[in-house]
Amino acid sequence: MATLAINGGAPVYNGRFPAWPQWGAKEEANLMKVVESHSWGTLGPFVLSFTKRFAEFVGTPHAIAVNSGTQALELILRAASIGRGDEVIVSPYTFSATVSAIAYVGAMPVFADVDERTGNIAAESVAKHITGKTKAVMAVHAGGYPCNMDALKAVTSEHGLLLIEDCAHAHASSWRNKMCGSIGDAAGFSFQNSKVLPAGEGGMITTGNEDLFVRCWHFHQAGRAPGGREELTGKTLMGTNGRMAEWEAAVLDAQLDRLPEQCAHRQKSIEAIMQGLAGLPGIILPPEDPRVTALSGYLFQFQWQRNNASRDDFVKALRAEGIPCSPGYEPLHRMSMLQDTAFEKATGRKFEQKDVLSAADELSQTAVWFTNNVLLADAELIDKVVQAVRKVATQL
Ligand SMILES: Cc1ncc(COP(=O)(O)O)c(C=O)c1O
Repeated sequence: MATLAINGGAPVYNGRFPAWPQWGAKEEANLMKVVESHSWGTLGPFVLSFTKRFAEFVGTPHAIAVNSGTQALELILRAASIGRGDEVIVSPYTFSATVSAIAYVGAMPVFADVDERTGNIAAESVAKHITGKTKAVMAVHAGGYPCNMDALKAVTSEHGLLLIEDCAHAHASSWRNKMCGSIGDAAGFSFQNSKVLPAGEGGMITTGNEDLFVRCWHFHQAGRAPGGREELTGKTLMGTNGRMAEWEAAVLDAQLDRLPEQCAHRQKSIEAIMQGLAGLPGIILPPEDPRVTALSGYLFQFQWQRNNASRDDFVKALRAEGIPCSPGYEPLHRMSMLQDTAFEKATGRKFEQKDVLSAADELSQTAVWFTNNVLLADAELIDKVVQAVRKVATQL
């Protein structure tokens, strides 16, 4: 039996994985078009055409291109008049931006527990956290694995709550053949560098709700009404400058061409990893749910659970075998940002975590991630990933 690399043995692999982001002639040509156009910002042709294309891709009537995924979530909350005194139920198993967007508009984030395998917010736990102050549920499709949207829609419609999707990881993921970002009342996407549709920075709001769209538009466009430059006089609401720059949309226009093939490739890699690791003691794989009809492959999340070695030991050993991997999220309800004075000033209250969120706590101790670029490796290299996990799992 080969010795583990952390114990001085030869690693399973000592080469590179695909670099991210990827680009080619179209990105370069589009960027030059922007340079030469003299139209570098404020609803230029690339921003307008990419916004339309993205809305069609997701399958929503409306979209608005903005500066970041964080800002997309903040603008949706603002547009829905959610603020001081209101509560938004959210998963603790996410990036801090999901939760800080809620606090930034003045509302109180209330954490519900998650599904123990996917890390997605659990509808049964959402139901237990609804109070008279609850206005919305923020559902993060963690790693691009869709939330149970049937259950979340049932609980939000029963209580008259807004269902907001955080799709920062879920471009092209689908639930029952409907794209994430077209199922709830509104959604926020991120185009930050690591995401599966990257432009360095940037974000998108998608919604089928006309009123929400109009208000989001005002708020992202310094208060101006939708409809183009001729309507600049319609400053009836407050607003910020959330407009996307032309550079970002030019890159995204080219990146969107690549997305379907890249997602299909990552999905194949996920299938090969699932097959290769099935039944391996210590490894817990994500569920195979027929309602999940496509995965973005932003992350492949599985769990390591064994008494004699911690998840961090496992990650260290797998990295030593030449396989890039990382631990999953730290649960946000334990993070110091919620105790900072900025949080209290924004929301008008101190943060208090009243109940135990055992699935989120457990997942934060057991989850392991392979990122998007690992999943873009060719079949031979994915086989090395499987070999390395098998080696570590059997010998650690
Ligand atoms: C789950 C989640 N939500 C929101 C965001 C915020 O997106 P952005 O970095 O574009 O502001 C991120 C970014 O990493 C994220 O992972």
